[in-house]
Amino acid sequence: MNRPHNSIMVIFGASGDLTKKKLIPSLFELYKQELLCDDFAILGVSRTKFTDDQFRQNIIEAVIKYSESKEIDKDLLKNFAANAYYLPINTEEVRDYMLLKEKLDELNALKVTHGNFIYYLATPPQLYETIVSNLGVYNLQDTPDEHGSKKIIIEKPFGFDYESARKLNGHLHDIFNENQIYRIDHYLGKETVQNVLVLRFANGIFEPMWNRNFIDHIEITSSEFIGVEGRGGYYEGSGALRDMIQNHMLQIVGFIAMEPPSSFRANAVRNETLKVFQSLRHIKEEEVEKYAVRGQYTESLIRGEKIPGYREEKGVAPDSRIETFAAIKFFIDNWRWGGVPFYIRAGKRLPTRVTEVVIHFKKTPHHLFSTDNAEQTVNQLIIRIQPDEGILLKIGLKQPGAGYKIQNVNMDFHYSDISEVELPPAYGRLLLDCMLADSTLYARGDAVEECWRFVDPILNQWKENKEIKIYGYPAGTWGPMESFDLFENSKSEWRYPCKNLTDDGLYCEL
Ligand SMILES: NC(=O)c1ccc[n+]([C@@H]2O[C@H](COP(=O)([O-])OP(=O)(O)OC[C@H]3O[C@@H](n4cnc5c(N)ncnc54)[C@H](OP(=O)(O)O)[C@@H]3O)[C@@H](O)[C@H]2O)c1
Repeated sequence: MNRPHNSIMVIFGASGDLTKKKLIPSLFELYKQELLCDDFAILGVSRTKFTDDQFRQNIIEAVIKYSESKEIDKDLLKNFAANAYYLPINTEEVRDYMLLKEKLDELNALKVTHGNFIYYLATPPQLYETIVSNLGVYNLQDTPDEHGSKKIIIEKPFGFDYESARKLNGHLHDIFNENQIYRIDHYLGKETVQNVLVLRFANGIFEPMWNRNFIDHIEITSSEFIGVEGRGGYYEGSGALRDMIQNHMLQIVGFIAMEPPSSFRANAVRNETLKVFQSLRHIKEEEVEKYAVRGQYTESLIRGEKIPGYREEKGVAPDSRIETFAAIKFFIDNWRWGGVPFYIRAGKRLPTRVTEVVIHFKKTPHHLFSTDNAEQTVNQLIIRIQPDEGILLKIGLKQPGAGYKIQNVNMDFHYSDISEVELPPAYGRLLLDCMLADSTLYARGDAVEECWRFVDPILNQWKENKEIKIYGYPAGTWGPMESFDLFENSKSEWRYPCKNLTDDGLYCEL
């Protein structure tokens, strides 16, 4: 495994939630596994006035609280934190970037980082353009030679719709080259998402069947058990389609549906995912009701505990029409996928936390065996992205004994069965890739824009057309019943990764 060159990671938004919950624990994990460069520095930047020592203490506390590591070596953690520095500035103030430049010069000399800097934008998205412009004022984006590389990592959300994403891309390109820009989608950092590529392109058995001739339909679910967890104000400006489907779930579709790339270089892979997004059949505004269903969780009782409805959450308008559940059906108009429906759903306050892809294979053309008193054969490949990462193949086999009764069985692989393997955190994998200048698992600007172009008509209709219903579903259930209507006349329906947690409360139209 290559180790990256010495570098400084500047975290804008160093006092924030993402930094303490994800970035710092992931960087520590890389340090622990000796995957970071010999000399590296973290430079935290935000307005809160910390000293270096206070910031280092925050880092130690964040790792202890949020690291997924089973054991934490306290001395190692102290050594890690000693590489952190802090600069209190207002990133909206252009003059403050002089202080940033001076600090970077100082650390660059101290750590011999040859001008290799990574800027991580973990601030509210409204600041992205300002930070980029202000970095440009002091030429902090300049990569003078093969050393001194400057990269920028942008957090989600990347835009609010197609126009804003295009504008943000344009603004970034005014200052940075595309190969310096890393748009992070932490789903692509998940081991099982990367495994989709290995499963498809390293095995001879799946790819010949991976098309409209053998696959009936594809279903992708991303459910969360939790609600908005006090972040109702943020969620009111987002919703399930923007928060989950436009980015994470469409990126997964890209890997599931892409053609084999010519090589495993970043642009070869990203060219193929872009083609998938360009082939998405856009849902016409007048067909949004037919192909998209939205819902909002309502109050319910789960194991005796009262769960408030979305509209009762802090920061949420009492008449909010923001969806906490979205389901869509769509097609990919190309040779491989012509006529194969894709179903995607994402939601909060569903019965469990799970992200999975289900490939439903077609049935045999002729039934040789009686299905009386026996199960219908189900051929499904289930790629479990989280939790309990793994892969499961469902096939029908003969029940022991007389006759030919069929029983569905699972061929099951769980990563947890390989006990010596600790799955690396998604952010850690992606941060390391950025340090190594590998953007394969980062979204390219044109792909992000295509994904917005696909969801925009649905977002527009949901906003403008008051006739389109938003359905209530009791917290702890699999979303509104109307999401099952997307399957229309087909004999299929959504897979239930687990049962509803409650059957009290009524499904309703909000
Ligand atoms: N939290 C997550 O798990 C998560 C997950 C995925 C994506 N994201 C994205 O990551 C970004 C950060 O989210 P977050 O949850 O960490 O937000 P947050 O807790 O509100 O933190 C925002 C950070 O930005 C800093 N900041 C705000 N205005 C500033 C200014 N004018 N100058 C300098 N610093 C400023 C804040 O520090 P001061 O107030 O000290 O200045 C704080 O450190 C957002 O774009 C979010 O969508 C977050």
